[in-house]
Parts: sequence; structure tokens; C-alpha cells
Amino acid sequence: MLPCTQKLADLSWKPKGVILSGSPYSVYDADAPHVDTAVFELEVPVLGVCYGLQEIAWNHGEDVSAGNRKEYGHAILNVARHTKAPSHIDVLFSGLADELEVWMSHGDKLRALPKDFVTIATTSNAPFAGIAHIQKKLYGIQFHPEVTHTSCGKALIENFAVKLCACKQNWTMERFVDTEIDRIRKVVGSTGRVIGAVSGGVDSTVAAKLMHKAIGDRFHAILVDNGVMRLNECEIVHKTLTERLGINLTVVDASKEFLTKLKGVEDPEKKRKIIGNTFIEVFQREAERVMRESGGTVDFLLQGTLYPDVIESISFKGPSATIKTHHNVGGLLENMKLKLIEPLRELFKDEVRVLGTNLGIPEDLVWRHPFPGPGIAIRILGEVTPAQVAIARQADHIYIEEIKAAGLYRKISQAYAALLPVRAVGVMGDKRVHDQVIALRAVETTDYMTADWFDFDGKFLRKVAGRIVNEVDGVCRVVYDITQKPPGTIEFQ
Ligand code: XMP
Repeated sequence: MLPCTQKLADLSWKPKGVILSGSPYSVYDADAPHVDTAVFELEVPVLGVCYGLQEIAWNHGEDVSAGNRKEYGHAILNVARHTKAPSHIDVLFSGLADELEVWMSHGDKLRALPKDFVTIATTSNAPFAGIAHIQKKLYGIQFHPEVTHTSCGKALIENFAVKLCACKQNWTMERFVDTEIDRIRKVVGSTGRVIGAVSGGVDSTVAAKLMHKAIGDRFHAILVDNGVMRLNECEIVHKTLTERLGINLTVVDASKEFLTKLKGVEDPEKKRKIIGNTFIEVFQREAERVMRESGGTVDFLLQGTLYPDVIESISFKGPSATIKTHHNVGGLLENMKLKLIEPLRELFKDEVRVLGTNLGIPEDLVWRHPFPGPGIAIRILGEVTPAQVAIARQADHIYIEEIKAAGLYRKISQAYAALLPVRAVGVMGDKRVHDQVIALRAVETTDYMTADWFDFDGKFLRKVAGRIVNEVDGVCRVVYDITQKPPGTIEFQ
């Protein structure tokens, strides 16, 4: 993955093929990024997706794309076969049906074919939804093969990578484990030590297990109890990581320290900052203790960075300034003279889950819904007090327990209960009460950038609401959040 402005002459290797991705720009924008035209002279297959297609067209004749009607969403693609044309033209769609469901998301589209190109696919709104050069292996597609809604997307990319570029499919998780363990051992050496924070989430657990497999007890994991984890979470994580996975783990109970600092704070950004900064302070203290007690130096800090974080930092405008996790860790690295080690940085979430399963991590941990660093502090709207934490924890626990019992946990991408900062009137045991309100959230998403609410049946919601108002003191009402992202976000704060 390189920024599109990469000069090919600066590369020390020759690619077997090039995919030009989509972009929010129009090729006509004054500040639009443009690819090094040497890409088209490399004599390797090139596939342009959406903006990539427009970039190919733009580089093969003026004025071929135009800011026309926007098109977002589902479309039916008709494949045009060219049995008499050179054999490479039909390869992109080989083995696929003549009519395909695809996902479109574009402003500009091609108005005419560039010279020496033919049409290989159309939709009712895009007459040049797929194009190919008649001599060179240059292809452009207007739709997005990389999204789940384009069901033929993986097969199309496989046709490109395997049949056109002659790449071998040798990236397997079994191979990954062996090569990564070898790499970790080489980097860390035979006496080096590594520390890392674990949260009970899949990424940090998989990273920790991999590290433990590579260097055993020279890896020290630290779990900071910030007082805003889920019900019984620290005990469960401690038990699983030490007893089942054999990881050398210290749990630090810093809940009082966090909750004292959160006293009186209602602003969500302030909560995030307080939790982030306190975490760094506690972690550093603990890491220094590990250093002293181990008698040697700790050289590396383990981070469960995934490939999407890496992608976010590869921009033609330079690394994004808004990446949350990295700037905090930067301080730690400098203060403690640590080097960063990131064994998962080439993996996507689904690959991390396969890796976790292969490493023997229990299924309920591998398939855990994501949980934000600031924990339930950003799910308690208003001040975070021990009493509010207790209410939010119990309600969340009941909700997730019912989701699991109904066999829905894996169908939902993320679910939790939030505690709203309002009181509502209710009637309980013939008495008027003026108590708090729980909001249930459940979303389906693949990338967490956009999300839709999960469509529970009424019976399920009735059961959860009944249990929460009956079992959680201080709550007399339950509501279900039916806001999509955008405009809502997945978390309430
Ligand atoms: P939003 O609320 O932005 O959430 O739609 C998208 C995903 O990010 C998670 N999230 C966070 N994770 N620290 C984290 O580690 C944070 O401050 C944070 N805020 C949101 C959220 O749970 C969801 O999966």
C-alpha cells in the first residue's frame, strides 16, 4: 500500500501488478492526487477502481470524465464479453455471471471511452462501468469490488491478482504465525524484554499470545483496571490470559485513581483525555516496576496495531494528524526509550480472528464486540460516579447476556447499554418513581465507519426491558436507539 503519488523510480522492487484505489476527489479538482504515469509503462496489469478508473481515462485522453449525476448504492452490472478480442480482455470477469450485483459510490463517471479501450461492463446509469485496453492489461471499473455489497468482488480481485498478475496465493495464517514468530525472535533477540497493555479485546489478546509464543515470560502484559470496564471484566480477562493462555500478566487496580479524576466531569472529550492520560501514567509506573523487578531493561512496547490503522497513516498528504492511539504511545516510547513492536500491523480484523483461533484463544474472546478505550465512561452520559458505573454495568450485562442467549451475538457487530442523563417518571409497586433511563444500542457494520441499527424483534426487546427495570435499581425506563451512522455515531459520546 503506497500513496498514489509514489514515484516508481524510487522503488527498489517491481510490482507484479498495480491497483489504483478510489478517492473522494474528482480528477478535475485543483488539488487532486495524480498517479505517476510510469505506472502505465511498467508493462504489468493495472486495475483502476472508481477514481482509479477515472485516473486511467484522464491519463489516456482529455475530457473523458465529467462531474455528472452522483450514484450511491446497489446497481446491476451487465458484463460485456469479447470472445473475438485479445484474450486478456475477458479475464477480469471470467467465471462470473453475466449479470452481477455491485455497489457504486461516485460523483464523476466516464462520458466516452478513451482511445484503444473497450467496454467490458455497463449499468443502466454508467455505460462505461468497466473498461479494458485492447492491447495493454489496463482495466478500469466504476464500482467497488472491495465492499461486502459487491458479492463478486473477491472473485474479481482474485482474477486480477492470480490470473492477470500471476501472483501466488501463499498468505495463510499458518505461515504468518511461523514467519512472525521468527521475526519477533530476531528483532527482540535472546535476552530482550517486551511489555504491552492488554484490554481483553481481541487485538491486544492475539498480539499478547503471539508474543508469548515467541519469547515466553520475557513478555510482560499489563491490564489496567480503569474502573470503567464491563461487569467482572478484569477477573475474566485475568483468568483467561493467565490460566488458559499462560501469559505473564499483571492486573493493576487503578479504578479509584481514574474515578477520582473523573469526578464532576461531564464533557465527553474531557473524559477521553482524562482516561487516556491517566492510563499512560499508570502504565508507565507499572512498566518501570517491571523493569526494576526483572533486573534488566525492557526494550520494546507491544501494540496491537492493525492494517486499517496503517492505511490511515499512508496518505499522499502525509500521516493523518487525527489518529488517536498513536500520539499517546509516542510519549511512552520517548520517556521510557522503548521501541515499538507491532506484530499484527499487516492484518485485518477477520485475519486477527483466524489467527486468534489458531493460537487457541477461546471463541468468546476472539468474537468479542469492540469496546472503546474510555470504556463505559463514554456510555454514561453525564458524570461518571461509582453508582452510575454500577447501573450501566448491570444493564449492559443483562442486555449482552440476553443477546447471547438468543444466539444473536455474532450477528450484531457491537451492542451495549448506555445510561442517559435524564430521569423519567414511572410506576413501580403502585408507587410513583422518578428514575433513570437506559438506552440500548446494537449495530451491524463491517468497517465501523457506517452502521445500521439491528432490527430485533419486539419480543426480545420486551424481555430485555423487563429484566433491566426489574433487576437494576434506579432504572425505570428502557429505550432502543434507531439512529444510523451517519448521522449518529456508534457510541453515544
Ligand atoms: P463511533 O462512536 O465513532 O465508534 O461511531 C466507532 C468505533 O470506534 C470505537 N470507539 C473508540 N475506541 N477509543 C477506542 O478505543 C475511543 O475513544 C473510541 N471512541 C469510539 C467504538 O466503540 C466503535 O467500535
